[in-house]
Amino acid sequence: MPSPGYPASGAYGPSRPAPAPALFDLVLRILAGVWVELTLTGLLLVPAVLLGVVVHPLAGAALVLVVVAVMLGVPGLRAWLGRLLYGRIVRRQFDGAVRACLIWTYRDQTPKVRRLERVPAGEVLHVAVPVGGTITNLQDSAETLAAALQVREVRVERDPDNARRGAVALVRRDPLTQPAPPWPQLERGRLDLWQPVPVGVDDTGRQVALSLPERNVLLGGEPGAGKSAALSLLVATAALDPAVRLHLFDGKLVELACWAGAADHSVGPDTEQANLVLRTLQAEMETRYLALLANKARKVTPAMGLPLHVLVVDELAHYLLAPDRKVRTEFAELLRDLVARGRAAGLIVLAATQKPAHDVIPTALRDLFGVRWALRCNTPQASDTILGSGWASAGYTASTIDPAHRGVGHLLHEGGTPTRLRCHYLDDDDLAELALRAEVIRQTSPDEVPMAVTAVCAAWSPPSERTRRLPSQRAFRR
Ligand SMILES: Nc1ncnc2c1ncn2[C@@H]1O[C@H](COP(=O)(O)OP(=O)(O)O)[C@@H](O)[C@H]1O
Ligand SMILES: [Mg+2]
Repeated sequence: MPSPGYPASGAYGPSRPAPAPALFDLVLRILAGVWVELTLTGLLLVPAVLLGVVVHPLAGAALVLVVVAVMLGVPGLRAWLGRLLYGRIVRRQFDGAVRACLIWTYRDQTPKVRRLERVPAGEVLHVAVPVGGTITNLQDSAETLAAALQVREVRVERDPDNARRGAVALVRRDPLTQPAPPWPQLERGRLDLWQPVPVGVDDTGRQVALSLPERNVLLGGEPGAGKSAALSLLVATAALDPAVRLHLFDGKLVELACWAGAADHSVGPDTEQANLVLRTLQAEMETRYLALLANKARKVTPAMGLPLHVLVVDELAHYLLAPDRKVRTEFAELLRDLVARGRAAGLIVLAATQKPAHDVIPTALRDLFGVRWALRCNTPQASDTILGSGWASAGYTASTIDPAHRGVGHLLHEGGTPTRLRCHYLDDDDLAELALRAEVIRQTSPDEVPMAVTAVCAAWSPPSERTRRLPSQRAFRR
């Protein structure tokens, strides 16, 4: 129930105007809106007037001229002043829009802007709503606010730790029309796949990173959307970590070819050959679980020193649509098992395909992928087959991405909502250089291709002897 005398959020529509504030409140509100400008003017004018009265009127004028000249002439100061005044204008506009859209909730207060951050897309206002209001009030009025502020979009996110706080992004332009900056890992030597992989920038200009251990990734999108390019960032990181074992399945033969020198297996479009490798990996997974059991561990951790196995499948549909029914069914079943059970054993599956509809990829396999990455699709339905049903109607659809903006997509990871991002791009020269670096690192690394699994398996013993012979997880260490 709304408090008597005060409107609940949205209680007044255009046909029921809010009561006019008292004149005193109005003056106070205006002064509060311009207190920074008033303070700056006061700091300049008060000494100038004093100087003018005490010394000479021209001395006061000269002081004003000098201060203004310094403020405008020194680039750092000018930029600071510009940022400050622009920030004040944005705050006032936001306050005015919130009032105009009647989103205030209690005692005529509007959400307080605690901090303003400028981002490539526009500004992010870190706000706290007044007591009696919720961030949801702002979320519900995002479109009305966007129209009032004349911006492209207003996006509101609640602080997960504090219900009164949230971030309001005023999106004025789409920075994803420009290519993403170079991949931050391009110049680095060894990489660590246990660390999040930077994959692109979101539309507020922030770096987006994807953590791969214990996750399986499904990339989808129309041909040419940028799936293989996005996949190459993850493969490059895996290849540049000498402690990772790479297994490549390349339905197009050429997309992953450059990484062959760093991979344990490279399979072309032959599904039977793919099944052979998948069976080997399935056996590896079983062995690893036995080793975990022997060590009373439930999952592989970095401290164990066991290598992560990364299975990369580009053009997944090619294998799942192999002409021989028995062969393709076996492929689907083996991959489903690895995706379903491999996470804790340190197996990571990265798969890319065009529209992963149920007639191409069995839903029993598709639904197991925890991380979904939808690049441009033809229809909202196609986007939903990648991200999961319902996202398109919630406004997250890859069908609205401009076909010219390759590499733009929605990444759904770590729960929450999909992040719209443009991924970094590695051209053929970058790939060749990184692949060469990966081979050199793997050949020269002191902990070159760890064989810890084999070592642990050799040490594995029947359950009766287990507790005596392998009491700790130290057996996993290299
Ligand atoms: N992030 C990106 N930035 C710029 N251009 C890209 C990006 N991703 C892909 N492209 C361009 O799009 C082309 C097709 O990308 P690709 O990854 O092969 O698409 P897909 O695998 O979805 O068919 C690439 O050759 C490249 O020219
Ligand atoms: Mg491709």
